Amino acid sequence: MADTTGDAIPGTVTVDDDGIRRRDFINVAAIAAAGVGGVSVLLPLISQMAPSADVLAESSTEVDTAAIEPGQAIKAVFRKQPLFVRRLTPQEIQIANAVDVGSLRDPQTLEERTKEGHADLLITMGVCTHLGCVPLGAAEGEPRGEFGGYFCPCHGSHYDTAARIRKGPAPKNLEVPEYEFTSDTVVKVG
Ligand code: FES
Repeated sequence: MADTTGDAIPGTVTVDDDGIRRRDFINVAAIAAAGVGGVSVLLPLISQMAPSADVLAESSTEVDTAAIEPGQAIKAVFRKQPLFVRRLTPQEIQIANAVDVGSLRDPQTLEERTKEGHADLLITMGVCTHLGCVPLGAAEGEPRGEFGGYFCPCHGSHYDTAARIRKGPAPKNLEVPEYEFTSDTVVKVG
């Protein structure tokens, strides 16, 4: 049985009345001190990782859509990636709405992919969901694929007028980023 009385002899383990070994206590105290030190080192690191106001501003993109005619699209840049902003014609809206959503690989309605009252404004990332190429169809004269939206020539993905995947290897529709209207025509993306 361990010695529970008198001074501890250096290098030995003693047991207190409550059964806690003194060496364990010293270890626990050392770990706790290291933990406090760790927190004080981590906090400045975490605060350095928080984005500055400049970075936050850069992380959103404003687009004035006023000049985009029906049937036209423009390319913008959002977080260093291409962004397509497209004004659909009434016919393109009709074609998108006529599709049986249940038959789609990534079932979404045009309504779900646009903002209320702005069904004619389709805003998507210009990044193919297969391997990340930039699809064609946003610039004047570029092929828009078999479904009239966008066409990715890298491996032949076809997107429809709501930028939904309809044919080819891409698994998902072109991504609709977070955005909001800040006026009738100006959109803030991000
Ligand atoms: S990257 Fe677009 S089809 Fe492969």
